Amino acid sequence: MSEIARVKLAVVADGSLVRVKHPPYDVVVGLDGQGRPFALEDACPHSGASLAKGCVRGDVIVCPSHEWEIELASGEVRTAVGRGRSCPVYAVEPEGDELVVRAR
Ligand code: FES
Repeated sequence: MSEIARVKLAVVADGSLVRVKHPPYDVVVGLDGQGRPFALEDACPHSGASLAKGCVRGDVIVCPSHEWEIELASGEVRTAVGRGRSCPVYAVEPEGDELVVRAR
């Protein structure tokens, strides 16, 4: 799997979301409510809003535009109206003081 980006753990430790370049849609990286890392394509499956501008609630990220909830582990939309849609997820693992994001 090819490496896409490295994000310092200290940058996301407070719940911040980080957007890393990976054209065409970039990737949003952060920690879920239990401190587990995630990486998703940074484009909401509804109309493409940047999920990096949303917020994490437990095991979902909430889109800032229309509040669809997207599961962090699977990328699947949990909100009823969007069921069946999803956004791509990336592999992400801690390595030292960084999170390493790789294509699946
Ligand atoms: S663009 Fe994300 S819910 Fe509409």
